[in-house]
Amino acid sequence: MQGVISLSVIVKELKLYQFKNHENISLSFGDKINAITGSNGIGKTNILDAIFYLGNTKSYFNPSDKQIISLGCSETSIFGKVTKDQEYELLGVFGEKRKKTFKKNGKPYTRLVDHIGFLPSVFITPHDISLVFEGSEERRRFMDFTISQINKEYLTELIRYRKVLDQRNAYLKSCEGRSVDPLLLEGFDEKLAFSGHEIHRVRTSFIADFLPHFQRIHKELAEEDTSVSFEYFSPISDVTFQDLLLKNRALDIAAQRTSSGTHKDDLIFEMAGMPLKKFGSQGQIKSYVVALKLAQYEFLSKQTGDKPLLLLDDIFEKIDEQRSKRLMELVCSDRFGQIFISDTHHERVKEHFDPFGVDFKQIRIGSESLTE
Ligand SMILES: Nc1ncnc2c1ncn2[C@@H]1O[C@H](COP(=O)(O)OP(=O)(O)O)[C@@H](O)[C@H]1O
Ligand SMILES: [Mg+2]
Repeated sequence: MQGVISLSVIVKELKLYQFKNHENISLSFGDKINAITGSNGIGKTNILDAIFYLGNTKSYFNPSDKQIISLGCSETSIFGKVTKDQEYELLGVFGEKRKKTFKKNGKPYTRLVDHIGFLPSVFITPHDISLVFEGSEERRRFMDFTISQINKEYLTELIRYRKVLDQRNAYLKSCEGRSVDPLLLEGFDEKLAFSGHEIHRVRTSFIADFLPHFQRIHKELAEEDTSVSFEYFSPISDVTFQDLLLKNRALDIAAQRTSSGTHKDDLIFEMAGMPLKKFGSQGQIKSYVVALKLAQYEFLSKQTGDKPLLLLDDIFEKIDEQRSKRLMELVCSDRFGQIFISDTHHERVKEHFDPFGVDFKQIRIGSESLTE
């Protein structure tokens, strides 16, 4: 849908019930910049996470939903009033004894994946640095999250792949001390190869589309000429998945798990033709990561025709003065829609946005009056 004028997705209201440290809180937001301020530990990041949850049916940080329920409580709910082409009410409910449900305008989704992509968001947090320093899982998650927002079949294929992989691993484990049935293993291999190739095909085409976005936005943000790039690494780039599984069969049987495949794909980050981790200064690494996220924003906005929400967590702690000024200038432009930004100093955020004359709302958490 290139060339379409993007429509902003806007969260007007948010009500949290027993969500992390927020027992009961109601907030209303402005259409452009929303500065959520308050002291450390007051629950600013948790509010951004709740907004993320509303669009993705899961937390950005907590893999288990149990962790989002306030300690000592047994259920949580997140309510949001949002506008897109029209007004919508979204409600997510989850409890220890209650399956997670999501409703749009009172109508429950039969499958949660059908909600993905409705309220797109990009979250920029200090935690993103793990994209560079942690294992390949983080980078696959980045790719998968981005693609899933625009391609439901891809998300379904990922779920299918994970399921077959778990089954194959469980089977290999169950074979301890006895011989493996080659026919049964071939059955798993065939399914795994089918899904794996499909995932590989979509990731390859995604990388080709995404890289130029990243390089352009990096240039804009970092204002330096050091070249940046990344490469897609996959164990099935040069061989078929089935040949790979066949080659690794003895190893897999001995290790009782699937040693190689699409689940080992990676992105290799580079700066000036060198590995980013070794070459980049701290500041350069941070800008690289922020540029990746902003490229994610531009990519989603272009593909969907919606301007996603932008969640900026502790951004001023993250990048230097000059880059944060550049970033604020960027996000105030029409390329971006509604923005939520958390900070400990309410004067500091205001000062950053004042020069741009944009619609600005301050939401102070933990003080008598919540908004001003
Ligand atoms: N499930 C939970 N129940 C209660 N409190 C929680 C839960 N999860 C996190 N918290 C609390 O939330 C607080 C942190 O909130 P956070 O949003 O990170 O603060 P801020 O961003 O304002 O510094 C911590 O005190 C943490 O213990
Ligand atoms: Mg925080």
